[in-house]
Amino acid sequence: LSRNGAMVTVRPIAAVRHAVSRWRRGGHSVAFVPTMGAIHAGHLSLVARARRGSDRVVVSIFVNPLQFGPHEDFRRYPRPVTRDRALLADAGVDLLWTPDTETLYPADDRTRVRVMGLGDVLEGASRPGHFEGVTTVVAKLLAVVRPDVLWLGQKDAQQARVLEQMVKDLDLEVELRRGPTVREPDGLALSSRNGYLSRDERRQAVALSRGLTEARRRLMAGERSGAKIGAAIRRVWREYPLVREDYVAVVDADTLEPVIRVRKRVLVAVAARVGAARLIDNIEWEP
Ligand code: PAF
Repeated sequence: LSRNGAMVTVRPIAAVRHAVSRWRRGGHSVAFVPTMGAIHAGHLSLVARARRGSDRVVVSIFVNPLQFGPHEDFRRYPRPVTRDRALLADAGVDLLWTPDTETLYPADDRTRVRVMGLGDVLEGASRPGHFEGVTTVVAKLLAVVRPDVLWLGQKDAQQARVLEQMVKDLDLEVELRRGPTVREPDGLALSSRNGYLSRDERRQAVALSRGLTEARRRLMAGERSGAKIGAAIRRVWREYPLVREDYVAVVDADTLEPVIRVRKRVLVAVAARVGAARLIDNIEWEP
């Protein structure tokens, strides 16, 4: 147990349970923001929302090995522990939980949580097993923290949708809220992975948000063809040779199924490789 101002940092599950039960007995509501650390303004905006809506805020930092593929960036994922702690303490977090891998995944662990369909498309198709890792860890984190509200970022829209389904299907007593994507002044969505970009790559990474801005413009102007919206994004991307498409998708925001004609709320989701970074971004739009 350690303290940064009023923020307490703990590792064992029992310490989290103890703190949260005490708050609950005192009649306090609890919000939870799960993270993998490398805290940026996107995370901090979720913390700020969590604070406004609840009496106590719990944040977890855990770089979850289960959601990384064998050739992904688990080892080099940034872990600026001291900086993260200071930022979260300044943001008014009450409890920071930094579990060990052996605590969350002991050697005899046998259980996985999978949301079928929703977790197999888009990010799930490019990163097999990714969402099973996300849903398994978030189910475990929720079982320990038992918050009233779970805060997630719209930047990972599919993750939020998959977790919404998990919460519903498992009858978990938690309200899931999404905070809007926080962007750099040029539009690039904040991500812990932006740090992998070289100067030139960083300049071109703006293609993702520019493509989405163009998609929104087309939608507002009355375009309803999913294919044409996708083509408009790809046309923008042609100006950015360092940006290599993984996918450009116009899907139903609820089912995540491809949309031929836009009739209800859609998610326009994109993923691209820019140098060593794999970046994602999205917008949601409703006619
Ligand atoms: O979005 C993230 O940082 C992670 O996927 C999450 C939700 C903390 C689960 O590891």
